[in-house]
Amino acid sequence: MKNVKTIAEMQAVAESLRWEGKTIGLVPTMGFLHEGHLSLMRTAREGNDAVIASIFVNPTQFGPKEDLARYPRDEDGDRQKCESAGVDYLFMPPVAEMYPEKPSVFVDLEGIACMLEGSIRPGHFRGVATVVAKLFNIVKPHRAYFGQKDYQQCAVIKRMVRGLNLDVEVIVLPTVREADGLAMSSRNSYLDAKQRGKAIVLFHALKAGEELIRAGVHEPEKVRQKMRDVLLTVE
Ligand code: PAF
Repeated sequence: MKNVKTIAEMQAVAESLRWEGKTIGLVPTMGFLHEGHLSLMRTAREGNDAVIASIFVNPTQFGPKEDLARYPRDEDGDRQKCESAGVDYLFMPPVAEMYPEKPSVFVDLEGIACMLEGSIRPGHFRGVATVVAKLFNIVKPHRAYFGQKDYQQCAVIKRMVRGLNLDVEVIVLPTVREADGLAMSSRNSYLDAKQRGKAIVLFHALKAGEELIRAGVHEPEKVRQKMRDVLLTVE
């Protein structure tokens, strides 16, 4: 696996891969990799001639009071994991490479980026869409892989690709879960044992909603209420 730190080198590699007629699969990440990321990389490995993973903790998608400074990092461990998942190139640019000056150009989506998580994290999806667009221009992938855990993020990226006519196929793969059902996430490392115990209620609420729908309940408010009841069982 080759490590790449500059945009110029990454673009040159992508250009020559394309010139050789090879397909490129991109797995964009913010690092501190877990099995969810690795499953994306393995799938990219199966479907493409070359696999490029990126690790970049993107400042523009963090709010001023969010966890940018303490976001978990493990560069050496991540390198080994990428290698074992069959990644050919690991693009890990410094912040000054991606944003040499105060960012003033953004990809901003109306509607979809402002609801749900977007309503409590203003600017978050603008930062995500902007950095993913930049990564697409740098890595020139034929396919890009994302986890369904970040459902709204996937919808935003698909909408961006459609809206800007980007020539990239967005592939969304199922959430990878711990044995008890908790979705794998780099941020799970913030949880102490008590919080970890409580976090599983999210999975239980989703399952309760699913069961209701499978049993034929189609009124969203009934499903919402059931899920709310399950969530409120946590003290
Ligand atoms: O899902 C993530 O890890 C990030 O939001 C992404 C897509 C790599 C953009 O920074």
